[in-house]
Amino acid sequence: MCGIVGILSTRPVAADLVDALRRLEYRGYDSAGIATVEGGHLERRRAEGKLRNLESRLLSEPLEGNVGIGHTRWATHGKPTERNAHPHMTARVSVVHNGIIENFRELREELTAAGHTFETDTDTESVVHLITDEMDKGRSPVDAVKAALSRLKGAFALAIIFAGEDNLMMAARLGSPLVIGHGDGEMYLGSDAIAIAPFTDTVTYLDEGDYAVLHRDRLEVFDKDGRPAVRTPVKSQANALLIDKGNHRHFMAKEIHEQPEVISHTLAHYVDMAQGVIRMPEMGIDLAKIPRITIAACGTAFYAGLVAKYWIERYARVPVEIDIASELRYREAPLPEGGLAVFVSQSGETADTLATLRYCRENGQHIASVVNVRTSTIARESDVVLPTLAGPEIGVASTKAFTCQLTALACLAIAIGRARGAIDETRERELVRELVEVPRQIANQLLDETQFETLAHLLTKTRDVLFLGRGVSFPLAMEGALKLKEISYLHAEGYAAGELKHGPIALIDENVPVIVVAPRDSLFDKTVSNVQEVAARGGQIMLITDAPSEEAGCPLAAHIAMPLAHEFTNPIVYAIPIQLIAYHTAVLMGTDVDQPRNLAKSVTVE
Ligand code: G6P
Repeated sequence: MCGIVGILSTRPVAADLVDALRRLEYRGYDSAGIATVEGGHLERRRAEGKLRNLESRLLSEPLEGNVGIGHTRWATHGKPTERNAHPHMTARVSVVHNGIIENFRELREELTAAGHTFETDTDTESVVHLITDEMDKGRSPVDAVKAALSRLKGAFALAIIFAGEDNLMMAARLGSPLVIGHGDGEMYLGSDAIAIAPFTDTVTYLDEGDYAVLHRDRLEVFDKDGRPAVRTPVKSQANALLIDKGNHRHFMAKEIHEQPEVISHTLAHYVDMAQGVIRMPEMGIDLAKIPRITIAACGTAFYAGLVAKYWIERYARVPVEIDIASELRYREAPLPEGGLAVFVSQSGETADTLATLRYCRENGQHIASVVNVRTSTIARESDVVLPTLAGPEIGVASTKAFTCQLTALACLAIAIGRARGAIDETRERELVRELVEVPRQIANQLLDETQFETLAHLLTKTRDVLFLGRGVSFPLAMEGALKLKEISYLHAEGYAAGELKHGPIALIDENVPVIVVAPRDSLFDKTVSNVQEVAARGGQIMLITDAPSEEAGCPLAAHIAMPLAHEFTNPIVYAIPIQLIAYHTAVLMGTDVDQPRNLAKSVTVE
């Protein structure tokens, strides 16, 4: 993972490198560093922890170079110390890297035997020595990088600068995103277009396997076979996406509150509001004839996919296979001829999801993706893109992207149901009417958060929390547990309510809160029976429901009163309380809500 940036200019670039890195901190924040070419030498500054530590370092020890690269790290190989922080360098070459070099051990042994001394535990340092070694053999910087790239196995986006070269930077990508920005007599590069948006809106996306030679006034791109390649610059919309927290304390709070609006935007994309019916983009496949749908995703996006499985099977009557992306690919699952594979991803860059997409393509599936970043690799490699219009999500814990994913998937479920005749026009209009109600129902929930603050106070006194849900509420229980553990660091597990008696019930005592997602749907009575089982063992029950508290049939530690919604749209509406529970608990616990420890927003390593 990690974020990388680079700038080639005629003025000192350190401040702009740090500014660009700030917009990439969502990719990792274990350490940060920059390197520039100063009077022909390479100089660097690095600092453990967040970017502000690097900024302090630069105040006391500034860098003046006009050519530079920068990095914000999510540690994979080697502890998140200053010693392991990027940029890595020798006297001749400095490199920043996002991804994993899989054959780094072999390279390290070979280069150590050849007399190179390694200073860090990282995989990246092998790239630095490899390029240096090629230069030591007399190759030019460009030829040395080209030779080195042919030796690398794994996934990478690289930016490279050289001692004695103040009008040269090189870049390469394979499996990790990279974009080049064209300025007026300046060049930029970044892991995404938002990183460099304040500097330029003219960008060139590199294709898989490309490498690029950057000078201040020109860009040359070569494909994976070393042939000159034409990559047409495009206008980036990223500038419009530059954002702040508004009057919220955290990005997560802001993003939770944006949900009524962004769900409306997403709905407007898929619903013909005048007719009250679904209007899907051209799918490029006959939805009536799909034998099976395969869904894969990671993290929160996986739980959105799991809700979609319940929806598609129930309303469209098509069997759905779903798995975590990192599992599906390696299971070598057989895939049906003519099948549709759907990938759900906020960033569109998650390495496991991308790899599984490619597996499904190789196995003849038609590829659809539900993505938030339309310029992402997953979007570009899909046959059809179903965008979520959540806007940039900065908080590491996904909130508005999740509910927008659910919104797009709900529309897809209706469209498939209609195509197959499992849903008639009247039913379609009914379901669409319910979807259109969702933003208002969520806005009402967001008017007063007192009940969530009260509940959060109870949770801060515990160490373990169970979330229960049945049917389509089961994925929400798991998402609730994930949210809580991600940002409050409390241990939480999500279980199918009916599974409680097969194990987790052994954990229940008066110290274990059990949060039950229980809309009054066709399964409500069964969930209530499970609630009784918890009550009989002294557990503290916190019920999230549109039913009156008496219907629980036992005393409740908390009753989160929900608006009356439709069974179909409940998962979207019930996402809000689980987000607010996690958010308020984390605020009380004093954790770093937007950038929780050890996590990153976009995970571009397997
Ligand atoms: C990381 C993030 C999660 C996210 C998951 C999948 O783990 O911390 O919030 O759900 O990646 O990311 P994607 O961009 O593919 O939705």
